[in-house]
Formats: sequence, structure tokens, C-alpha cells
Amino acid sequence: MIKITGRNILVLNNHELIKECFDTGPNASLMNGRAPSFLGKYAVNGYKDILLRRNDSTFKKLKGLSWGLMKKHCDQSSLYEECMREEMDCVVEKFRETTGENVDPMEILLPSIGVLTAMLFTGERIGYSDKGLRSLMDFDECGDELVQFKNQSALNMFPWLRHLPGKLGRLFQNLMDCRSKIFQKFIVEMKETYSPKKGRCFMHGMFDAQQPGESGSGWLTDDHIHGVVLDLINTSAHTSKGMVSGFLLLLVNSPEVCRRIQEEIDRVIGHARKPTLEDMASMPYTHACIIELFRIQTHVPISAPHYNHGSEVEINGYTIPKNTIIFGNYWASNHDERLWNDPWEFQPQRFLDETGQLKKDDPKRKQILSFGVGERYCAGHVTAVNRLFMYTTTLLKNFDILPPEGAELPSAHPTSLIPGKVLVAPKFQCRFVQRSIDTTNGGSA
Ligand code: HEM
Repeated sequence: MIKITGRNILVLNNHELIKECFDTGPNASLMNGRAPSFLGKYAVNGYKDILLRRNDSTFKKLKGLSWGLMKKHCDQSSLYEECMREEMDCVVEKFRETTGENVDPMEILLPSIGVLTAMLFTGERIGYSDKGLRSLMDFDECGDELVQFKNQSALNMFPWLRHLPGKLGRLFQNLMDCRSKIFQKFIVEMKETYSPKKGRCFMHGMFDAQQPGESGSGWLTDDHIHGVVLDLINTSAHTSKGMVSGFLLLLVNSPEVCRRIQEEIDRVIGHARKPTLEDMASMPYTHACIIELFRIQTHVPISAPHYNHGSEVEINGYTIPKNTIIFGNYWASNHDERLWNDPWEFQPQRFLDETGQLKKDDPKRKQILSFGVGERYCAGHVTAVNRLFMYTTTLLKNFDILPPEGAELPSAHPTSLIPGKVLVAPKFQCRFVQRSIDTTNGGSA
């Protein structure tokens, strides 16, 4: 435990302790709150969201509702999957235009990730030049800068800095501008064309829940919906950038992993059709690579700040004073030699049995803490896995991903990732060389 600017801060550095404090221990719910914060107060309308709100009954209702709608309109929706495939076609076309020359892959993939995030709200693909997409990406960038430790600490301590000229004031003003544009695009404009019970997307599901007699009736305001939209942008765009850039860096550095994934793609998907999410169940090696990627790169290395609001907690004979900010060190747990053989080695086979299938009810998979644990578990785990599967299979089906010519390639060791709240790969270039396959029967992507 340490004290910074008068606040008690506790970092949990091992797996058992993190599980006990956040999930299984008798006092877990006391440690799943969130501390009062500048962003909670000013960016999401006074904690009317999931990520920054303490774990009270409104939090539980809002998270439960959002989770259900994400499952229905994104993770298990054939309409969403169809739009994702359209987006994959565009991505393939853009990489094809690079004609095998060096390219920074994130220049193409970042806007694409923005499109997938917007699709979650609207249920349809919006174009790269759409103003809503611009505001969404600007909000993500601006939010990401504001949550940097030094900026956030300064604003938590001196919230009036937001009114002064200079960097923090400017960042805050940009954030507020993007926030209003997002409200206009995804709430005001979508309400204009919405008819109850014909919902085809996440936003319509939220508006349905506001109707009399429905689960959100009487408490779910437009401000709450706005807060959830801002959360989902903030939590999904940068983490997706981390996982996609991190996986590509690993693939360029690992020809053998690419070869094995391509072998599985050729066998299961073949040349004549496009990847579907259903294919994942028949592609255990690719699936195991995705699971192992989340472990080895742990893109969110430290949990969001938990908080024991107003109550002291006893744990293993120690007393945690009330109002302590508590972080789970997921990075340490995912690289703990007591839990993992060769924790710094990328070994997807650790999740496979002797026949090459994913092990059933594998206790090792349950030990991975990349998406948190307990009441604060990530709401977008399935969305993230589905996204990564679609990008990986689409790209490796169409291209060999090769090191750059005449430029250096950073190492794929997890410690090469750029430190921050979310770990992303350092900037790098690589080449997308088209594979010689038969692309008849609409099988291009
Ligand atoms: C690489 C991908 C991702 C990783 C590694 C990741 C990881 C995490 C972690 C570690 C937390 C905090 C857990 C804690 O405080 O203990 C979290 C929270 C959250 N994540 Fe994710 N996430 C990812 C993608 C996504 C996506 C795509 C979405 C939405 C579409 C999402 C939505 C959320 C939300 C809403 C929370 C707040 C949950 C709460 O406070 O109760 N995440 N995520």
C-alpha cells in the first residue's frame, strides 16, 4: 500500500489475492466500487455510466441491460456479422491496393475499428467519411490523453484547471465538443427514426427499454444511454487497437504461427467463401492463438481503479482503510511463473489437448485475467474475441503478412509493447502479399 497525494493506493500483485478481493472473497462487493473521479463527474453526466460508476443498483441494472443488448445486437447477431463482413471486404481492398509494398497496417485498421464500434450502435456500416465516425474517433483519442496518469491526477486534484487556457483546458473542451456531437448523432438523430419494438440495433434496444412497462422505465434517462455509448467507445476502440496491432506484430515475427493458421483457414473455410464467426468452433489452433495472445500481451495490464467506498475491509489479517483505491495487477498474474510454464513464450498449444482440440473446461483458461474478474468483468470480451477472429482470418486468408523491406521490425516480446493504460504495439511496417488463391464464387474476403 502506498499514499499518493493523500490517497491510499493498494496494488494486488498476485492471482489468488486479486480473485479473492474482486470475485470470490466475502468482501468482494465492497472492493468493486469506483473512486470519485473528474471524468466520472464531468464526462459522463455525473457517473451515469458503467465504467466509472460505483457498484450500486443502477450500475447493476445498466450493466445487465447493456450486456444483454450487446449479446443480442452484436455478439450473436447475424445482421451485425453481415455488416462486419462488408467491412472486412473494404479492409482487404485497401490492403490489396498496397500491392505488397511496406505499409503501417494500423493506418488502414484504425478507421476500420472505428467503423465496427459505430456499427454496434447503429446496426449498419457507416462510411469512413461520416461525421459521426470522426467524432467517435476524436472522442477516443481525446479521452485516451485525458486518462494519462499525469493529466487525470491533475484534474482530479484541481478540477478548475478545465476552465483555464492551456493543454488541459483545450483537451477538456475538445472532449466536451465530441461528446455533444456523439449525443446528437447516436441519440437525437436515431430517436427521430426509431419506432418502438422494431429494434435492429443496440440504440433501439436502449430506447425500447425506456418505454412504459419496460426494464428501464422510470430510471433509464438519455444521459445514462449517452454515458454507456461514451463508455463503449472508450473501452472498445483503444483496446481493439492494442489487440489488433499486437497480434499483427506477433504474426509478422512468427511465420510458423501464420502458416498453421493459414493451414486451418484453407481446411475449414476454403477458398470459395468468407470467414464466419461459426468457423471459430472448428478452428482450435486459431482460437488458441487468440486466447494466448490475450494472456501474453495483457493489453489492459492494470485493472481500472476499484474502490472500497466508505467501508474498511479485512483481508488475510490486513486492514484496508476505507476509501482506498485498489488496482489488480493483471500483467503480473498472467506472467506468474507459479501459474504458467514459460510465461514469456507464445504457446497456443498450452490450451490444446493431444488431438489438437481446445481442452474442455480448462482450468488454465480460467486463470487468465486479461478481462478482469468478478462484478467488474469486461462487458466486451466476446465482442473483442469475435473482432480479432474476423480480422485475423480475413487477412491471413487473403495475404501472407511479411516483414518490411529495408525497414526494421520491432520485436514481438510483450515488453516491447508501448506502456500505458492500454498496451499497443510500437509503430511498425509490414507487407501484405496476396496469396495465390482462386477467388471465384464471391470468396475474395
Ligand atoms: C482487447 C480487448 C479488451 C480488453 C483486454 C479489455 C479488458 C478490460 C478490463 C481489464 C476491464 C476492467 C476490469 C476491472 O476494472 O477490474 C474492462 C472493463 C470494461 N470493458 Fe473491456 N476490454 C477489451 C475490450 C472491450 C470491448 C470491445 C468493449 C465493448 C464493446 C469493452 C467494454 C468494457 C466495459 C463497459 C468495461 C467496464 C466494466 C465495469 O466497470 O463494470 N471492453 N475491460
